[in-house]
Amino acid sequence: MKQRVAILISGRGSNLERILCEAETGVLAGRCEVVAVISNRADAGGLAIAERHGIPTRVVPSARRSTVAYGLDLLAALEPFEVDYVVLAGFLRVIAPEMVARYRDRIVNIHPADTAQYQGAHGYEWAFARGLSATTITVHLVDEGVDTGRVLAQRDVELDGARSLEDVVARGLCVEHALYSETLARLLDGEFGRSPTDD
Ligand code: GRF
Repeated sequence: MKQRVAILISGRGSNLERILCEAETGVLAGRCEVVAVISNRADAGGLAIAERHGIPTRVVPSARRSTVAYGLDLLAALEPFEVDYVVLAGFLRVIAPEMVARYRDRIVNIHPADTAQYQGAHGYEWAFARGLSATTITVHLVDEGVDTGRVLAQRDVELDGARSLEDVVARGLCVEHALYSETLARLLDGEFGRSPTDD
């Protein structure tokens, strides 16, 4: 049975695009259906990507909303779609505890660093500023903290010879795109524990 997935974005949407392609004809095909794409910004590039793929989109603006108030907005927007999983793909708001409770162990995020070493935004800037020879992409479950949830998968990105931040980001995104869908497939297969439709 296909799991119903909503993807939350704030910007470019390159991870979103890869997940949509994988759900159509790749590693996620038959495992999930992306039923909604929700952005907190009306100008997010990913909205056009979702529309090209025929996925319903919603803009739920987050400006001037507290974390809790915005969490309730998101819960209301998600409810009609009856989703099993919420996938964060470059979503730049903290997830409210109410939402974590509603979708416990079913909210997934990708973080462009090792979450044990670096939390929050600008993970590639952090790696580039330190001149790291490698960084680590993390796919993790979302809990009440910021980038503190259970790690599902990690993969290293070679940064030797990277001369610009753009180069670091390009190398990182290549790894992100592959790792995210592979890990989502494993999650949907129940490899990390029980699935919501096991009842
Ligand atoms: C990615 O680097 C992801 O790890 C981070 O935000 C960025 C989103 O990029 N959470 P995109 O919108 O998927 O292109």
